[in-house]
Amino acid sequence: MTKNRNKITIEQPFRICFVCLGNICRSPTAEGVFQHLVNQQSLEPYFFIDSAGTSAYHIGEPANSKSQMVASQNGVELTSKARRFEKDDIDDFNLILAMDDENYQNLLHLANNPEQKEKIKKLREYDPKPGDGNVPDPYYGGMDGFNRVFDIIQRSSSALLDSLKSQISEDS
Ligand code: 4NP
Repeated sequence: MTKNRNKITIEQPFRICFVCLGNICRSPTAEGVFQHLVNQQSLEPYFFIDSAGTSAYHIGEPANSKSQMVASQNGVELTSKARRFEKDDIDDFNLILAMDDENYQNLLHLANNPEQKEKIKKLREYDPKPGDGNVPDPYYGGMDGFNRVFDIIQRSSSALLDSLKSQISEDS
């Protein structure tokens, strides 16, 4: 049985980290959207939600202003400060979700063994309409790209939460 199939309890909340390149556009959006869905369903005690970037380009920065605008128009607040994903994070999380193939490959290179590798997936594996499997990088484009990213993340996060809910156990 893999670690991310274990029961989720208040004593052992499920720890999930969303990862992109800069940790200022896609993964902070995913962190905010997933937290929002968890809050709406009063499931806060069962989840620890974080995000990080594979690069060090933007460490310490808040989410990109366009990402914040789109999120806020959809009732979601983005509160993260960019950080780099570290090798030690792999053991610290139950599930690590990459936004695209490049992030996924970079994360796999940090993993040492099959148990660690198994925790690393791509967010769009959960998307009912997965397209090419990547959440496209919106950084150099206009608002259309940021809106598209938000829609992909919202759809995928909702399906992700539905799939994890079956593991929640109210017994400790
Ligand atoms: P993110 O977007 O990976 O979704 O946070 C990017 C942010 C910054 C850069 C690239 C992508 N950059 O090249 O600085």
